[in-house]
Amino acid sequence: MKREQPTNKPPSETRSVTDQYRDAAVTITTGHEPDLQKVRIPIYSAEEHETWALMYDRQIKALPNRATPEYLAGLKILNLPQNRIPRLKEVSASLEKVTGWKLTRVEGLVPEREFFECLAHKLFPCTDFIRKRDELEYTPSPDMFHDIFGHIPLITNPEFASFYEYYGKVALKANADQLIKLQRIYWFSVEFGLIQKPEGLRIYGSGILSSPGEVPYALSSKVRVHPWDFSVVEKQYFEIHHMQDDIFVINSFESLLTGFKAYAKKSGLL
Ligand SMILES: [Fe+2]
Repeated sequence: MKREQPTNKPPSETRSVTDQYRDAAVTITTGHEPDLQKVRIPIYSAEEHETWALMYDRQIKALPNRATPEYLAGLKILNLPQNRIPRLKEVSASLEKVTGWKLTRVEGLVPEREFFECLAHKLFPCTDFIRKRDELEYTPSPDMFHDIFGHIPLITNPEFASFYEYYGKVALKANADQLIKLQRIYWFSVEFGLIQKPEGLRIYGSGILSSPGEVPYALSSKVRVHPWDFSVVEKQYFEIHHMQDDIFVINSFESLLTGFKAYAKKSGLL
């Protein structure tokens, strides 16, 4: 593991993650529907089903010895369809059996407060649209492949699920300054985190696991890898629209949860 100092940019260059999504013309929508029986199942084209199948096939081949075992175990539990787009209610039912979490359907990115409310109630906001064929490599707007393949398997892990729920509860109490710091903690854990395992570094961040380019890049020598430290991560600037050059490594999901509780307490959020 390279232990270099993270590259921070001055505060004037910082943008909240929501503002960065707005900059990238990603629509922020309000409202979510937790009763998935009420949600009309979209009619996907053959090309859209094929997009899911192509993405699934590519990622599943890339993940052995790279993804953390807890994620791979979750993928096995969920038993997602490989050749067609899954239905949210099917995925939600499988998830609920394991950790009590459910999916709630969203149009796209929801505002921060609504997102945290969902997490605090063990609801994962999930889209039901898939990226366009020319966005296989990258889409600025998180789609259902990112949401389902990237995020859901790890929520089957009790320690990670507990951290995620806790994060929502804590973030609901944050002021604007604290929110920027919490978003960095989210970004470098939930989206782009690595974990140290006896066999080596493994990926648990959904932004990496759902991206064809990020999987090999995140474990390459091009990335500056740092040990997880809340006081460093909260200051770490990031941009959403390119590969991540600074990545932080946790020791375990238990340590992420206990460390986050201590951080929240110290920040006056508990
Ligand atoms: Fe995400």
